Amino acid sequence: MFEYAERIKRLPPYLFAEIEKIQKEKKAQGIDLISLSIGDPDLPPPQFVVDALAAESANQKNHNYSFSQGEPDFRAAVVQWYKTRFGVDLAPDQVVALLGSKEGLANIARAYINPGDHVLCPDPAYPVYANGGTILCDGIPTPMPLLEENGFCPDLTAVDARRVKMMFLNYPNNPTAATVDARCLKQAVDFAKDNNIILCYDNAYSEITYDGFRAPSILEIPGAMDVAIEFHSLSKTFNMTGDRIAFAVGNKDLVAGLTKVKSQIDSGPPVYTQKVAVKALGSYTHRDPPEFLKRNNQIMQERRDLLVAALCTLGYPCEKPKATFYVWVNCKGDSMKFASKLLDAGVVVTPGVGFGKYGEGYIRITFTQPKERIEEACKRIAGAL
Ligand code: MLT
Repeated sequence: MFEYAERIKRLPPYLFAEIEKIQKEKKAQGIDLISLSIGDPDLPPPQFVVDALAAESANQKNHNYSFSQGEPDFRAAVVQWYKTRFGVDLAPDQVVALLGSKEGLANIARAYINPGDHVLCPDPAYPVYANGGTILCDGIPTPMPLLEENGFCPDLTAVDARRVKMMFLNYPNNPTAATVDARCLKQAVDFAKDNNIILCYDNAYSEITYDGFRAPSILEIPGAMDVAIEFHSLSKTFNMTGDRIAFAVGNKDLVAGLTKVKSQIDSGPPVYTQKVAVKALGSYTHRDPPEFLKRNNQIMQERRDLLVAALCTLGYPCEKPKATFYVWVNCKGDSMKFASKLLDAGVVVTPGVGFGKYGEGYIRITFTQPKERIEEACKRIAGAL
């Protein structure tokens, strides 16, 4: 019997792997479950992406190793996308290709965190910041509570910045679906600069927006380029979660640090997915989303409206999120118990406490299922409550 390393022993189980296990067991018993848990879009990638994947993977040259930092045309496409989408100027050496933003968010800690360094992690949050990132580097996750009364923004005036080397932030936010304005981002940049803290900004949901809202990049904020690295993914924007293609951009030294780690432990995304990403990112001809994304977001928005209306009718008032495909619902009590009641009714949601202790009292419901399934889920939820 081999013993796990201490840091692995400190690691809690991965939230979505646990939920997957429960779903598998229930399915094996023949139970029809509606999964409103993981944020994995049910809609297909746009047809031009599917066609490009077929064409690029048929090219034998695209099956060799990639450059550690990413293919030159991929990095050039990211540079162009930042200019078109956010008006931000980048050089190609400010871009690194990732196998999904998840590994980048974990590996950036590997580049900079020494044992005992404190890392500010929003709470509730995507578990990778605290676990795969901080704990796996023997760092100490230091929660920044995201409270409803503060619009789910951290109160940076309450943070003790001593021993803090890095912080994570993520807006549009997972799991609360909160969005922020430039003022809040400016406070974060100033805080990072004043305290010499690396600011890791997860912007995976910037393109999934509704009601005309357009999410900013942290790199639009003056001074951000001195301290920030931003993580983006094609997963949610182009419905390509399984294709594992993403990138990090920003401060040149931080990008170099992340590239150095990655060059030792992976060989980058397949060349053919990078070629596909060039076409996908190139579909942006101006700041507004391309047509297929407008259609996608319209579908998501209808689902959102349906879900929020049903929850309000059931006595669980919640806001219509301006971005992401999550609704963060105050469940007025123990989130595990609430989620397990819904599970018994055949609906899988994520208990808020799975995202951190300040997530207790909430559940996250994802609208990545067709409208009819969401309607059916709402009926089941009504029955269970
Ligand atoms: C989520 O549901 O929070 C994310 O989609 C999970 C992930 O990206 O790994």
